[in-house]
Amino acid sequence: MQKAWFYEEYGPKEVLKLGDFPIPTPLHNQLQVQVRAAALNPIDFKRRQRPIFPSDFPVVPGCDMAGVVIGKGGGVTKFDVGDEVYGNIQDFNAGEKLKQLGTLAEFIVVEESLIATKPNNLSFEEAASLPLAVQTAIEGFKTAGFKEGQTVFIVGGAGGVGTLVVQLAKHLYGASHVVATTSTPKVEFVEKLGADRVVDYRKTRYEDVDEKYDFLYDTIGKFLYGFLYFPWNFQPRVVLCGKSLFYISTWIC
Ligand SMILES: NC(=O)c1ccc[n+]([C@@H]2O[C@H](COP(=O)([O-])OP(=O)(O)OC[C@H]3O[C@@H](n4cnc5c(N)ncnc54)[C@H](OP(=O)(O)O)[C@@H]3O)[C@@H](O)[C@H]2O)c1
Repeated sequence: MQKAWFYEEYGPKEVLKLGDFPIPTPLHNQLQVQVRAAALNPIDFKRRQRPIFPSDFPVVPGCDMAGVVIGKGGGVTKFDVGDEVYGNIQDFNAGEKLKQLGTLAEFIVVEESLIATKPNNLSFEEAASLPLAVQTAIEGFKTAGFKEGQTVFIVGGAGGVGTLVVQLAKHLYGASHVVATTSTPKVEFVEKLGADRVVDYRKTRYEDVDEKYDFLYDTIGKFLYGFLYFPWNFQPRVVLCGKSLFYISTWIC
């Protein structure tokens, strides 16, 4: 048996309990992984609060993890026992129910297609913090057809997704000008991530920002607010990631 955090009803964090679970056995295409670090994202508490992704109880929350392979199914070709791996073990694009056994457990099983080798220069904790947030950030750039040299305005530049959007814009996708919002204590932090300009939303109202941008990446769901007040005349590509559209995680227009 192993220890895992789980819930058997929807509700606030008080529904979480620590208990005993069987150690899962990998299927043909799955790895069995000893979890060394797990990370939580907003989807994990939203899923616990209400049935946005209905699944049978008990549910062990958590999508992201980093760990060590301790077993594998016969069809696994890319990994061996002892490999250090990381990834988001839930496949939101599969159209099936999410796994009941998430990453807040000592041992999990996961399809090898969802997992990558952990880079040596990342700790288990650092690696576990990345998968779902970086997938979300990259999905926004790709779906919006972002092109090198374009300018970007990021709402929520200090958040889990926003920190990655800032870095990807500047250091991977070649944005020519990166502007991000954050609150006063995090201005320097977001500058260090690569933002050319940081808008402190406690001191500057969005509607007072008067430049035009090619691409708006909104990680906190201020979409309507942006369209109503930004002087952009519906010109930018907009990626919405967050709470405003009935929990659709990422939405492009
Ligand atoms: N994390 C993921 O993997 C993921 C995946 C898909 C979708 N999403 C969705 O994306 C949204 C953001 O997720 P996250 O993980 O990035 O959350 P997060 O880490 O909590 O970041 C949210 C950021 O929003 C900023 N913020 C709060 N109020 C603001 C305001 N009034 N004006 C401007 N900025 C404000 C905060 O900035 P300050 O700290 O500067 O106040 C905070 O850093 C959530 O709705 C989530 O469901 C997340």
